[in-house]
Amino acid sequence: MTIIEPFRIKSVEPIRMTTAEERVGLLERAKLNPFLLHADDVLLDFLTDSGTGAMSAKQWGAIMEGDESYAGSRSFYRLERTVRELTGYQHLIPTHQGRAAERILFSVACKAGDIVPNNTHFDTTRANLEHQGVQPVDLVIPEGLIPHVEHPFKGDIDLARVEALLARDAARVPFGMITVTNNSGGGQPVSLANIRAYSALLKRYGKPLIIDACRFAENAMFIKLREPGEGERTVRSIAQEIFSLADGCTMSAKKDGLVNIGGFLALNDDRWVEQAKNLLILTEGFPTYGGLAGRDLEAMAVGLEEVLEEAYLRYRLRTAEYMGDKLLRAGVPHVRPTGGHAVYLDARALLPHLKSEDYPAWSLACALYQEAGIRGVEIGSVMFGKRADDGTESYHPMELLRLAFPRRVYTQSHFDFASEAILAVAARASSIRGVRIVKQSRWLRHFTAEFAWAPR
Ligand code: F0G
Repeated sequence: MTIIEPFRIKSVEPIRMTTAEERVGLLERAKLNPFLLHADDVLLDFLTDSGTGAMSAKQWGAIMEGDESYAGSRSFYRLERTVRELTGYQHLIPTHQGRAAERILFSVACKAGDIVPNNTHFDTTRANLEHQGVQPVDLVIPEGLIPHVEHPFKGDIDLARVEALLARDAARVPFGMITVTNNSGGGQPVSLANIRAYSALLKRYGKPLIIDACRFAENAMFIKLREPGEGERTVRSIAQEIFSLADGCTMSAKKDGLVNIGGFLALNDDRWVEQAKNLLILTEGFPTYGGLAGRDLEAMAVGLEEVLEEAYLRYRLRTAEYMGDKLLRAGVPHVRPTGGHAVYLDARALLPHLKSEDYPAWSLACALYQEAGIRGVEIGSVMFGKRADDGTESYHPMELLRLAFPRRVYTQSHFDFASEAILAVAARASSIRGVRIVKQSRWLRHFTAEFAWAPR
C-alpha cells in the first residue's frame, strides 16, 4: 500500500514558477550562491530541513498558551518536563537554535588544544569547535564515506579509531560526540549497538558522551525498522535509550522539534550547567527562556511529542526512499540507502569531467536551480574544504548535493517533479560547468561565498 502523508492541509502558501531564462539571471545576481537567492525565486526549496517545517494545529494552539513571563515562565516548565521525560537529563538550557547550545557547551567544557571525536561534525559544530581552538575529528566507519555502498547504519562511528585516539591522547579529549542522524554523511542513522559500545568505551576512559540530537526521532525510527531485535519497541523507548546512554545533548529543535526556531542544551553535570547558565544570561537570555519567546517553548514541547508518532516517521523516511527509488531505477548516483531527511546526489560520480577545484556538487546545485528552480545545498569542498593562509586548498572526500526535505510541507507530486528535474540534469551532465570561488570568509564560507563559472 502507498504510504500517505498522515495529515491534511489547512493552510497553504503559493509557490511561483520562474522561466529558465529568468533563473540564469537570478543565479548570476546571487553570485552563483544558492544561499543568496531570494526564496520567492525558488520553486521547491530543499536547501534545508531546518526551521522550514509546517507546524500542526496543535502547535499553533499551544502558541496562544505561551507564558511570556521574563522569569519562571510556565512554558519553560512544560518544556522542561517534556525534555526530562524524553532524555532523562536533569537540566534544560533553552537556546535560540542548535549552534547556540554548541557554543555554550564548548565554551564551558573544552579548552584550546582539545580534540573532540564524532561520527561527523556538521558545519556549525565543526566551526564552533575550531573557533575555540579545538580539533574536531570525524571517525565515521569507512562505509560512511562511500556513497554507493549499501549499509543499514552508515552513521556508525569507527570504534577502533576512537579507541586508538583515546589510547594516544585521552587527556586532550573532554568528551565524545555522536550526531544522529549523520547529516554530513547522507542523513545516515547510527545503530543502538554502536551508541552502546561507544558510550561504554568512553566510560572506560572516564569521558562523557554528548549527543547532537537534531534528528533523534528519525534515527530512532531507522533503529526500529533496521536493527535486529528492536522492531517491537516503540520509537519513544528507543529514543529514550539513546539519550540514556549519554550525559547530555545539544539540540536544534528546528529539525525533529518540528518548530521554526528553537533549540536547547540538556545536561546532567551540575558544574557545566552552572557555567552554561551564566553564559546563557550573557548572550541569549534568562535561563527560563534562553533567547526564545514563551510561545516558542510551547510549540517545541508539542513538537517533541508529535515527532515520535510512528505514522509520521514512517511517512517521513518513506519520502526520501521514494525519491531514491526513482533515482536508482534511472541510474542517477546518490548516497545509498537514502537517509532520513534528505536525498544526497553524488556529484563526483555524476560529473566525472569536473575536478575537485571545479566544486562539482556546488556546480550541480547551480544546474538544478537553473533547470527547475529547485534549491539544494552543497555538502562538499565548499562547505568542508579550506583555503589555508598560504593559498593551498584542501578538499572534502565526498562531493554531495543534499536535497533536504522540510517536514510536512511538500507532497508526493512535488517529489515526482523534483525527480524528473534531476533526471533532466543528469541527461545533460557532461555539459555542466565547474565554478571558482572569487570571494570567501574564514568561517562557514559556504553561506556567503561568491562564485564565477570556471573557464571551459
Ligand atoms: N548539528 C547538526 C547535525 C545540524 O544538522 C545542524 C543544523 C546543527 C547542529 C546546528 O543547528 O542550525 O539550529 O544552529 N543543520 C542545518 C542543516 C542548518 O541545514 O542541516 P542550528
